[in-house]
Amino acid sequence: MEILEQLYEGKAKKVFKTADADVYMVQYKDDATAFNGAKKGSISDKGIVNNKMSNQIMQQLEKAGIPTHYIEQLSDRETLVKRVEIVPLEVIVRNVTAGSFAKRFGVEEGLQLKNPTLEFCYKNDDLDDPMINNYQITALELATEQELATIADLAFKVNAELIKIFAAVNIRLVDFKIEFGRLDDGTIILADEISPDTCRLWDKDTNEKLDKDRFRRDLGGEVEAYQEVARRLSL
Ligand code: TMP
Ligand code: ASP
Repeated sequence: MEILEQLYEGKAKKVFKTADADVYMVQYKDDATAFNGAKKGSISDKGIVNNKMSNQIMQQLEKAGIPTHYIEQLSDRETLVKRVEIVPLEVIVRNVTAGSFAKRFGVEEGLQLKNPTLEFCYKNDDLDDPMINNYQITALELATEQELATIADLAFKVNAELIKIFAAVNIRLVDFKIEFGRLDDGTIILADEISPDTCRLWDKDTNEKLDKDRFRRDLGGEVEAYQEVARRLSL
């Protein structure tokens, strides 16, 4: 597949056009940011771990009946994906209290929730990705009610599959963020990435953090944490 010009550079990935108008190529970087870009750094070989992990997981999700943008891995950092129009929502699912949830509701981190929760943030860096509810989403025409129902259903299915995938390697899936896109015919599919950048992953025995919180919170050992996740998932 001939790779054409760069279309977009995000905080963690670049997106390129290809000779096929329905196919994009994503290239994963080692750049790491937190707090909407206020904290900047890099995590050595993060791009390789995130690319391989996201691709492996998306293939497992496809087998479980969840449509994704994944087409084919080209190299350690590069993957072909289906072209979508991204729905401008960060879709967050939580199983255990942590991060902004713990802060917002005044609860300690690490408490098992009685049921998984779903929340949406409006993807808008200028506004710092504010939380948004279903009424506000449809009122602003960011997504339709029907699309939101599909997104919620898929998000909980992704959660159920991810819990199993990580439990098999002794990792507790605390929470994660996913994004969806629309194909030309309007079909909603899973897009973006699933990686230690976008999930909270804790060792089941020790609760050691194996994700980007090591970078966000200056805990150190972030390179080793990403490599440990890669090792456990046999990437
Ligand atoms: P939060 O507790 O900070 O709201 O984060 C919830 C989950 O979403 C956590 O797994 C980290 C992930 N996340 C992203 O992927 N991107 C972001 O910009 C933020 C703020 C969180
Ligand atoms: N996506 C956020 C940022 O751009 C970082 C995070 O994952 O917390 O800075």
